Amino acid sequence: MRIAVFGTGYLGATHAACMAELGHEVIGVDVDPDKVARLQSGEAPFFEPGLSELLERHTASGRLRFTSSYELAAQSADVHFIAVGTPQRPDSPAADLSQVDAVVEALAPLLTRPAVVFGKSTVPVGTAARIAERLQALAPSPDVSLAWNPEFLRESTAVDDTLSPDRIVLGIGSGDPKRIEAVTREVYARSLAEGTPLVITDLATAELTKVAANSFLATKISFINSVAEVCDAVDADVAVLADAIGLDDRIGRRFLNAGVGFGGACLPKDVRAFQTRAAELGASSAVRLLADVEWINSRQRTRVATMALDACRGIDKPRVAVLGLTFKPESDDVRDSPALDVASRLAAAGVAVQTWDPHGMDNAERLYPELEYGNSLLDACKAADVLLVMTEWDEFRRLDPHELAGIVQERVVIDARNCLDPAAWREAGWTYRAIGRR
Ligand code: UDX
Repeated sequence: MRIAVFGTGYLGATHAACMAELGHEVIGVDVDPDKVARLQSGEAPFFEPGLSELLERHTASGRLRFTSSYELAAQSADVHFIAVGTPQRPDSPAADLSQVDAVVEALAPLLTRPAVVFGKSTVPVGTAARIAERLQALAPSPDVSLAWNPEFLRESTAVDDTLSPDRIVLGIGSGDPKRIEAVTREVYARSLAEGTPLVITDLATAELTKVAANSFLATKISFINSVAEVCDAVDADVAVLADAIGLDDRIGRRFLNAGVGFGGACLPKDVRAFQTRAAELGASSAVRLLADVEWINSRQRTRVATMALDACRGIDKPRVAVLGLTFKPESDDVRDSPALDVASRLAAAGVAVQTWDPHGMDNAERLYPELEYGNSLLDACKAADVLLVMTEWDEFRRLDPHELAGIVQERVVIDARNCLDPAAWREAGWTYRAIGRR
């Protein structure tokens, strides 16, 4: 199929590269000419395992191209994916739809042939119906269909998630439903042949499926974090408890890791945008639970910052080594990262904060120049009074507490992701503290 993907961020660049991998002829479109140039030369503008290989391979073969020209995209494709960002608005908790609207306004007047437009971006329910009307009003071709096909990919496993998704959700809007379904089956032929379920529904259900999924994941994390606080009060172990309740199929073990809580570009803003949209629809009391989910999540950051400050008490000019800056491992993304939030709170409280992250240093330094950025993991740990592990990179799990003991000032470690082996650290003479874990 001839496919255009609008937006080349984490979602769009991955989708474009994976569509080429599935055998389609793809053109990725972005308004940022620098990004387009990097992608066209086969370089990923961010760190995502496996993505560079796909970009290199398919830009070299010519099956994947990038451009800033909407005209070229409209000429080159019959299937269009909207994959631009919908970040939180600066002035409210609602989603900022300006990039989605800009794509529709620019693309629609160029659709002179039959086309199917798929929305992938996460949007408040009701957006897709509005876009369907705009397409109908602006497109010269009478045969332009709109469907909503939310994306569930996770950063760090985005390529696999796109090539082998858990499910494909298709919200059918304007246009011939049979044709939309046929095009969808052709786009995702490989995944469907491998048995991936295809859920066909309406636009509103498809839009809501995405925000409900993210809200549920956020709820699981905040749930286990509130249980962790009770564990702390009675010296119980939340990690063992999570293993035990997770053995129940109805509960499941995934997303029950207690720690400093969730961050990133999706979960926090989607939970907020869902509440805002529900309030607009007169259903705010129905999602009151999510206000607590957010509140618990922000409390985790305060708890970890307080633990670190408590450990620094009585020390003249304390130094804390913050290990991990990204919102999760195997990513360079520091957007709404709990690690940076806590690090900047410590710096504001007068602590010298030395940091290290395997992939997030450049992005972090641009946002928080006031922190110190080490040349290596060991450099960041030098003379530290407290080690604060904020992201569960493998590199940190493998740390040798004996080796580190000779580098730091004080043997105090706070494991804000419950990712270290407490016995090993205690044996090496460290004071080990974690979340909800003896
Ligand atoms: C999320 C959704 O998982 C994905 O389906 C959606 O498409 C986009 O948003 P992502 O933002 O990549 O993906 O991160 P995710 O793996 O969900 O983790 C989100 C945050 O929750 C991270 O900060 C992570 O550290 C935290 N988390 C996750 C926990 O604190 N505990 C857990 O048990 C799991």
